[in-house]
Amino acid sequence: MSDDSRPSLTGGRPGTPVAAVIPAAGRGVRLGPGAPKALRTLGGTPMLVHAVRAMAASRAVSLVVVVAPPDDTAEVKSLLDAHALPERTDVLVVPGGETRQESVKLGLDALPPGHEIVLVHDAARPLVPVDTVDAVIEAVRDGAVAVVPALPLADTVKQVEPALVAGAPEPVVATPDRSRLRAVQTPQGFDRATLIRAHGTVTDDVTDDASMVEQLGERVVAVPGDEEAFKVTRPLDLILAEAVLARRRLNDGF
Ligand code: CTP
Ligand code: MG
Repeated sequence: MSDDSRPSLTGGRPGTPVAAVIPAAGRGVRLGPGAPKALRTLGGTPMLVHAVRAMAASRAVSLVVVVAPPDDTAEVKSLLDAHALPERTDVLVVPGGETRQESVKLGLDALPPGHEIVLVHDAARPLVPVDTVDAVIEAVRDGAVAVVPALPLADTVKQVEPALVAGAPEPVVATPDRSRLRAVQTPQGFDRATLIRAHGTVTDDVTDDASMVEQLGERVVAVPGDEEAFKVTRPLDLILAEAVLARRRLNDGF
């Protein structure tokens, strides 16, 4: 291992190969009935294919590990064979688990040696621009062990005492200072060894990988995210995603 490949706040590690793990094994319950979310189409192409292409668009990414719905692994493999990706990018498909956290862990277990920087990217964020991917990679290469793309919030946020019955009025407990809050997206970027240690140590339920690294007491930093990296969660998000794609196609024939 050359000195270049060790994390350091001053030297960084330019040129370190990057792998991306894409958890895509969720059902998409909030989107309503239908195929698993990652297999639903946007502009005629499965969401997962958009997400894989978004990672492969970065010249630094040489491997993408897709964590597929366990019953659809074969279908996902043939889907990815049928859709063109850059020559430089290898793709692996592995079956996922019951939770996002388990799925990411299964993706990490499948990583071959040689990629010391790992991105974790939700299949449900199909339209993240390559500039965001590259900004995250650059911050890890510059020495951060964990990097999240993040945006300021548009809405004021209230902390409440959650009602026991859905729809009942909920007492407001506090209003955090919005200027100090960020909405966090993916891809999140990590020093591989740190992320693997986090997944081997932290057992609490979490909704992102960076929070596991925080629990280790390691420093996580935020870089600017992008509005187009939004997560497709509910039906309205599909309409927004279709509109973003249509605009891109109009602008550059993509
Ligand atoms: N995910 C996964 N394995 C799971 C659950 C989720 O790989 N067991 C993935 C999803 O496929 C998605 C990402 O984690 O790309 C973010 O999760 P979310 O947006 O919550 O997707 P779903 O869990 O599919 O949606 P829902 O919670 O509405 O069912
Ligand atoms: Mg979910």
